[in-house]
Amino acid sequence: MLDQSQTPVLSALQTSSQRLHAAFYAPGHKRGQGASSPLIDLLGEKALAADLPELPELDNLFAPEGVIRAAQELAAEAFGADGLEGTVSNHRTYFLTNGSTCGIEAAILATCGPGDKIIVPRNAHRSVIAGLVLSGAMPVFVAPEYSAELGLVLGVKQEDVAAALAQHPDTRAVLLVSPTYHGICSDVGAIAAIAHHHGIPLLIDEAHGPHFAFHPDLPTPALALGADLVVQSTHKVLGALSQAAMLHTRGNRIDQSRLQAALQLTQSTSPNSLLLASLDAARHQMATEGKVLLADTLALAQQMRTELATIPGLRVIDKPAVTAFSSVSDLDLTRLTIDVSGLGLTGLEADEMLHEELGVTVELPELRHLTLIVSIGNTDQDRQRCVAGFGSLAEKAKGQISVAACVQLGALKGADSSFTLPQVSPREAFFAPTETVEAEAAVGRISADTISAYPPGIPTIVAGEVIGTGAIAHLVAIKQQGGYVTGGNAPEVFRVLA
Ligand SMILES: Cc1ncc(COP(=O)(O)O)c(C=O)c1O
Repeated sequence: MLDQSQTPVLSALQTSSQRLHAAFYAPGHKRGQGASSPLIDLLGEKALAADLPELPELDNLFAPEGVIRAAQELAAEAFGADGLEGTVSNHRTYFLTNGSTCGIEAAILATCGPGDKIIVPRNAHRSVIAGLVLSGAMPVFVAPEYSAELGLVLGVKQEDVAAALAQHPDTRAVLLVSPTYHGICSDVGAIAAIAHHHGIPLLIDEAHGPHFAFHPDLPTPALALGADLVVQSTHKVLGALSQAAMLHTRGNRIDQSRLQAALQLTQSTSPNSLLLASLDAARHQMATEGKVLLADTLALAQQMRTELATIPGLRVIDKPAVTAFSSVSDLDLTRLTIDVSGLGLTGLEADEMLHEELGVTVELPELRHLTLIVSIGNTDQDRQRCVAGFGSLAEKAKGQISVAACVQLGALKGADSSFTLPQVSPREAFFAPTETVEAEAAVGRISADTISAYPPGIPTIVAGEVIGTGAIAHLVAIKQQGGYVTGGNAPEVFRVLA
């Protein structure tokens, strides 16, 4: 057992930032001395004094031998990446300063090369598509289960992964998003067993689950269920600064040298020391008081659930509603997903009113739902404001004409269990000569862009796929309802392979 009360990176940075010396290195603001006054006003002198490069005493992220290595070993133990042999001597946690995004890209680069197949859920984050473009890997898409009644994308069924592997036995890795943005967890244990039976690793995008290891009432972390590589956005749920994330590995299915090389491809050569210190601090906080803090968070979230559920027109998605589906093994109860369609509003309209008029800002507005991240940073005052805000929203919405709040997620459902490959790999599509055509002319052509509708930010068309009428209709509908579309200028025009 390591001494989790230590904070090697944070402490070294504190010492370094106070050391009297003449600085002739980057960053150019020289510990804040040359920073602009408005920036100093915003950040404070202490934060700028600690914005230091990889000085000898601060270690090197890509060849850690000192405080970063020690901090990563502490994190490996705390988050459960401490090796199957129970040793942390060869640390298996990597601090990331470019978000989970760079970790997911590196995970794909470390396991798949050009033309290699990887099983990917259709609700994968854009970083997965970026990983496919960088690596040249070929996605075998598996559609997550979708509940029309809840209007929610759920988990990935183990039998779908098994069937995809049976159809594509030459697959090199399986990637899953668990939990989803809504806190919905797939059966990672069962899917890990299937992947391992085929001799391939299971990679988990656990961007929304860095807190799972620290309270027994939260879903079991993927590492404990047999995942080989897990990427977590420490900044999304725990106390780290934005962009600070971690990648953990267990066992020997991941080539550590290739992973390290991949991480160097996807990260800046100037990792921000404040981000690294915040990762050290977030681990320290969880390891030393996480259980108590998260018990409070769970209690706060439970109280919010109970109170919000009494407001007519709102439905708070609860655990039984989602675990009734075979693709779902658990729900993170600190994640509140509220169906507002009963108020006669779309989630986007409700979000705007809450944000502009009622002093409540949520994480994810969708066509039918609003999703709130409740974390260790929330207070009882936040709870009161939230419940009062939703109460006022319900009052304001009275007498509104109900809108069709749920658009058919045609693109998601269309991918159901066919496990077909895109026409060309996302990488080939990315680099191919292209032309831009109107929507009608785009039908049947291969897309050069990955086009996502926000909400929910899931790619409707992945670069390399044939554009269908259902996908175009989906993009148009999302836009009509106030959402937006990224990736080219779709749905008006599409960039297709020439
Ligand atoms: C499911 C999922 N994976 C990965 C990411 C990327 O995380 P980051 O913002 O830390 O790069 C996000 C970001 O929203 C996400 O929702």
